[in-house]
Amino acid sequence: MPLELVQGDIAAQTTCAVVTAANKELMGGGGVDGVIHRAAGPELLRAIRPLGGTPTGTAVITPAFGLAQQGVKYVIHAVGPIWRGGQSGEAELLAGAYCHSLRLALEHGCGSVAFPSISTGVYGYPVEKAAPVALAAIAEVLAKRPDLRVRLVLYDVGNLHVFQRAWEKFAAQNPNA
Ligand code: APR
Repeated sequence: MPLELVQGDIAAQTTCAVVTAANKELMGGGGVDGVIHRAAGPELLRAIRPLGGTPTGTAVITPAFGLAQQGVKYVIHAVGPIWRGGQSGEAELLAGAYCHSLRLALEHGCGSVAFPSISTGVYGYPVEKAAPVALAAIAEVLAKRPDLRVRLVLYDVGNLHVFQRAWEKFAAQNPNA
């Protein structure tokens, strides 16, 4: 499975596309989005503003601007759900944000994509619940496109361990993944 779990900073990646955890207004924000916007520069906000937003569970793609210095071609702005207790379609929306991001990367000819853990910061999605959803969504796409390289970049070691445990469980239940 061409999936890698690493601890690190999403803005330091050198993949073809880097995903940011955006809001549906695409207004720029704190957390991962703040880090990506600072690294890419003000042109990034100028490029997404005219798009006017995108629904929760979807994503849009722009050039990477300043991140191009390190080889990144595209920033994918993925909108995950705000956690409301788990009965409001959060899992489907989170899976949608990952799948749509991967589809956009493939459509733009990318062979590698780096993701942060969408929705598990300001949006409050418990990482123990988000990790299996994220991994299943990514695995579904990779089953059809094993040529794509996906890296999940977890900022802190605690979240990395949660994703690693979730991946072990997923792999045990899906031996062909
Ligand atoms: N690299 C990788 N991961 C990071 C980094 C980083 N530099 N900084 C923070 N993280 C992790 C957080 O620990 C969290 O687990 O990214 C995860 C997502 O956190 P947020 O950026 O808060 O994203 P999210 O929960 O999806 O909330 C989105 O926050 O910034 C606003 O505009 C954004 O309104 C939107 C909301």
